[in-house]
Amino acid sequence: MRAIGIGLIGWGTVGCGVIQTLRDNAEAIENRLGAPLKLLRVADLDLDRPRPVAVPSELLTTRAEEIMNDPEIHIVVELMGGLGAARTFIRQALENKKYVVTANKALLAHHGNELFDIARQNGRAIGFEASVGGGIPIIKSLREGLAGNRIDTIFGILNGTANYILTRMTEGGLDFDAALGEAQAKGYAEADPALDIEGTDAAHKLAIASALSFGTPIQFDAVYTEGISRIDPLDVQFGEEFGYRLKLLAIGRNTNGRVGMRVHPTFIPKDHILAGVSGAYNAVHIHGNSVGNIMLYGMGAGMLPTGSAVVSDLMDIARDILAETPPRIAPLAFLPDRLKEIPLKPISDISTCYYFRFSALDRPGVLSKISGILGANEISISAVIQKGRETEGSVPIVMVTHEAVEANVRKALEEIDRLDMVLAPTQLIRIENHETQADD
Ligand code: NDP
Ligand code: HSE
Repeated sequence: MRAIGIGLIGWGTVGCGVIQTLRDNAEAIENRLGAPLKLLRVADLDLDRPRPVAVPSELLTTRAEEIMNDPEIHIVVELMGGLGAARTFIRQALENKKYVVTANKALLAHHGNELFDIARQNGRAIGFEASVGGGIPIIKSLREGLAGNRIDTIFGILNGTANYILTRMTEGGLDFDAALGEAQAKGYAEADPALDIEGTDAAHKLAIASALSFGTPIQFDAVYTEGISRIDPLDVQFGEEFGYRLKLLAIGRNTNGRVGMRVHPTFIPKDHILAGVSGAYNAVHIHGNSVGNIMLYGMGAGMLPTGSAVVSDLMDIARDILAETPPRIAPLAFLPDRLKEIPLKPISDISTCYYFRFSALDRPGVLSKISGILGANEISISAVIQKGRETEGSVPIVMVTHEAVEANVRKALEEIDRLDMVLAPTQLIRIENHETQADD
């Protein structure tokens, strides 16, 4: 029986998850595929560091090039991350007529359009299930399970580390740095955790998922991105008092002929289905015109969940190799010559509810001055709380608004933050009250 040869670059967290899954589930994999997946080579720069999953020494190398040039290797698995060498290795592998599997969403968000073209020119495929939502089969669902739909909304939690931090801050009372340290120790965070906490990683994933959903090329630069690093535990507490839970949401919508993509901290009602998604779990709502609303939920990061997604790509590709058929499904679901740019909707045009925390002097007339500016910009207030007396010169005044247009909100906050009685920039957090579809 023919074996499918695998070469893996990056013996790190995900690399270990793939190696363990291939080893522990070899029988189930072979029974589904009719052939074994054989790990022939593992490349990493540092072969001495202790790992949770061992590799026989004869498979190890520090030279990834050996994998690209090994005729026994059919599929190259890139799990080293980054935009530099990873891009070169993937190009080289495809040009050497090898198939590629990667979990590298940063690389795909920036260079996916180019790499998919190179794959097509060489009659090869790139599997990237692990790049969005860790172990959740989001790519397969968008590309195959929902292929009969026009998809207009993708809405959810796409970063395990940020969700883990917010959960530990809300439920465990941890401070930000301690919660991030835990996420790193568990293998959820990126090598540079700024990608997680500044929202960039979720934006990479949203750019990829939106392209698959709406039939566009990947447009990472069009994703509006804010992270959770500026979140104060005070806002988490005030949000709780208003009945909200804080989540880093990724929202892609294709409505009224325009595509809007945004990632930002968001308050959602405590009874919202995403409010209960905690720790490193991810969940996405997708709305298709035939299927209606669906939700996919599972571990969004971590060694074995991500290993599971990589192995599912290996099996898909192995089926094509065994059947000697060219890749049947276009990488971004739509045929490459049918992908089209759709006009973009900037963040300034969205309409949603807002939470504001003003740091103002505790003086008569402050509230009416602030509400006057909001009113003049067509922003109406639905609730206000003012807590305690002045500390360090200011008192927090917290407001929740009805739906307002973002451009008006920004104009009003600029004016308010210039007032002498306002001592620090106003904290703004958007609120989403809808399940999946809003007509923003
Ligand atoms: P790790 O840092 O744990 O592993 C990466 C490994 O690649 C390290 O051992 C690193 O070695 C090695 N490496 C770096 N450069 C080279 C090179 N030139 N040649 C050979 N090996 C190299 O990262 P993760 O496993 O966490 O992530 C890998 C990829 O998977 C990233 O793209 C990440 O975004 C993605 N991903 C991660 C998930 C997770 O839960 N961790 C989930 C989904 C996707 P050294 O440390 O010595 O530099
Ligand atoms: N750092 C990423 C996260 C890994 O926390 O979601 C999974 O893509």
